[in-house]
Amino acid sequence: MIYLDNAATSFPKPSQTVEYLNDFVTNVGGNPGRSGHTLSLQAARVIFETRERLTAFIGMTRSERLIFTQNGTESLNMALLGLLKQGDHVVTTRMEHNSVMRPLEFLSHEMGVSYTAVPCSPEGFLDMGNIRAALREDTAAVVINHGSNVTGNVQSLEGLKDAVGEAVLIVDACQTIGAMPVDMETIKADILCFSGHKSLFSVQGVGALYVRSGIELRPLKFGGTGSRSESIQHPTFLPDRYESGTPNTPGIASLLGGLTFIEKEGLGTIIDRKQALRRMLVDGLRAIRGVEVYGHKGPENASFLATVAFNIEGRLPSDVGYELNRRSMYVRIGLHCAPMAHQTVGTFPNGSLRASPGYFTREDDIRTFVEAVREIAEE
Ligand code: ALA
Repeated sequence: MIYLDNAATSFPKPSQTVEYLNDFVTNVGGNPGRSGHTLSLQAARVIFETRERLTAFIGMTRSERLIFTQNGTESLNMALLGLLKQGDHVVTTRMEHNSVMRPLEFLSHEMGVSYTAVPCSPEGFLDMGNIRAALREDTAAVVINHGSNVTGNVQSLEGLKDAVGEAVLIVDACQTIGAMPVDMETIKADILCFSGHKSLFSVQGVGALYVRSGIELRPLKFGGTGSRSESIQHPTFLPDRYESGTPNTPGIASLLGGLTFIEKEGLGTIIDRKQALRRMLVDGLRAIRGVEVYGHKGPENASFLATVAFNIEGRLPSDVGYELNRRSMYVRIGLHCAPMAHQTVGTFPNGSLRASPGYFTREDDIRTFVEAVREIAEE
């Protein structure tokens, strides 16, 4: 079996992910913040430690401003639906995932919010001039995909916040966090949204967002927080304001395991290994007659994630994906929930295949995979 769908979710997970998850469900299991008994307190400690470690991981210090969610989509929904109000304008790009585009469409139809999605280059890169030109007096937010889940290209965010000015800069770091350094001070994001189950190695069902001080969001949900239970008014303090209902504590424990693994292995080591796999994959696929790889070229100093979209000339991605699946090689096909990104690179409406190696992919796996694509292309 060769799993090349790490951009969807990383697999396998490191042993630490499994150990922390197992320890929680076997030995702790309490509902955090809901009781004063030992197991509830231990569960609360797991959440507190993960919140602290994750906050430090993104270069921030106010851990109460790190909000746990179920996934990157919920984080982005919380940012967009929580921030925007009637009459606001938003600037975004034509490389975004539906977790940005669909909330924006909803807001534009239901809440009188307007948005401008600026074009990117055919390789998926942002032109800062386009962003500047789209900004208006009433622009309340700019929302940008940090790394594409289609082409793997990473946007340079340098100078973006300065260009954006007062508007809130929301960065979708679902694909980049854990795959490259993501420091909120460096990229000057006001709100950083991400998932835990990709390159942070948690199990599925965990995401987070960090909201810089001074930014107020309307909560998406209201309910029990385990705090101020005497009042039917929802708490205004953080993180309780944004975290109602029993959290996914086992998932958060697994995220602590994932962070522990990253710290032990070293982010640099992880990046280097995945970049070596990326280069092998891109070079191997490009050497096959009839195969087109999208992106993985661009401005000098451009960086790319180990996410490689490609097609075989004259073949539908779904047919090729079926052939690969028969060989127990798992890639994602189609539009990757990012139709406008596929329009940008010229692969709409059929989309492409997408191979995304992870830290546990072996070089031999890439060789075998490239050989299989060659055989299918020659058939
Ligand atoms: N957004 C994830 C992907 O690109 C699920 O596959």
